[in-house]
Amino acid sequence: MTTNLTLKDILQKAQKEGWATGHFNFSELDQMRAIVEACYEIKSPAIIGLSEGERKHLGLKEAVALRDVMRGEYKVPIFLNADHSKSIEAAKQAVDAGFDSVHIDLSALPFEQNMAGTKEVVEYAKNKFSIFNFQFSIEGELGYLKGESKIQKEKIAVNPEDYTKPEEAVRFVKETGINRLAIVVGNIHGISLDEPSLDIERIKEIRSAVPEEVALVLHAGSGIPDEQIKEAIKAGIANIHINTDIRVAYVEGLKRSLQEKPEEVAVYKIDQQAIDDLKKVVVEKLKLFGATGRT
Ligand code: G3H
Ligand code: ZN
Repeated sequence: MTTNLTLKDILQKAQKEGWATGHFNFSELDQMRAIVEACYEIKSPAIIGLSEGERKHLGLKEAVALRDVMRGEYKVPIFLNADHSKSIEAAKQAVDAGFDSVHIDLSALPFEQNMAGTKEVVEYAKNKFSIFNFQFSIEGELGYLKGESKIQKEKIAVNPEDYTKPEEAVRFVKETGINRLAIVVGNIHGISLDEPSLDIERIKEIRSAVPEEVALVLHAGSGIPDEQIKEAIKAGIANIHINTDIRVAYVEGLKRSLQEKPEEVAVYKIDQQAIDDLKKVVVEKLKLFGATGRT
């Protein structure tokens, strides 16, 4: 790495300087390398994440080993996140496996249970690593974030009642000790039929209520118009998650290759298009987030 900054340092820097780090999901080596190469080319740090399904596919130890190899090879600050860990057990497994970060997502539970479970994961990580060199970063989630990372075929109703409430965010952050908070402000996982409309005022309210050392995270970044993304960053978002947009780029690239070369049986010759297309989207997103030249 050209910098020894931790993920926490980078998020603080982003917040102060008015840009955002990207978080990109993957489940294959080729996708991961494409993300890391994009970061290398435009000198951008990034979080690379695997949901429970994605990490079951690739393997936890495999993901950690690949991170180490790619950090050595490309020397860019990349951080491995256990995205949307829906149970305490899944989060602890990622801590033990050597991830840099865990997103413990108990947002489907009632507030008090979400808080207690999130706190348990924070305590677990703190006990595991030296308190004097605690670089591990933990994200909690508050609010009801709908949808999955796919192209939605049906309209998903957005209900402001599901949004993160500033007063709950304050208590949640204080009692759990998390480093990042995922908020719900009109965002929906996947590419929705309706154009999303982020509640920028709500982001500002949460940002001014929550201590500045806690970074705000916007999930479900796919399909959100560029202008809204820029406004969200200005309002205090320091990290943006993208999955569907890169999934679509990759799969569309694969389909094109298969159509253009129906006789080809060497997989590495078929998937190059998909890799290139995914990488292009990552570069575009990082530029949009203002994350270039930040390593
Ligand atoms: O955690 C993953 C992200 O929130 C992805 O959301 O598929 O809408 O980009 P997205
Ligand atoms: Zn998400």
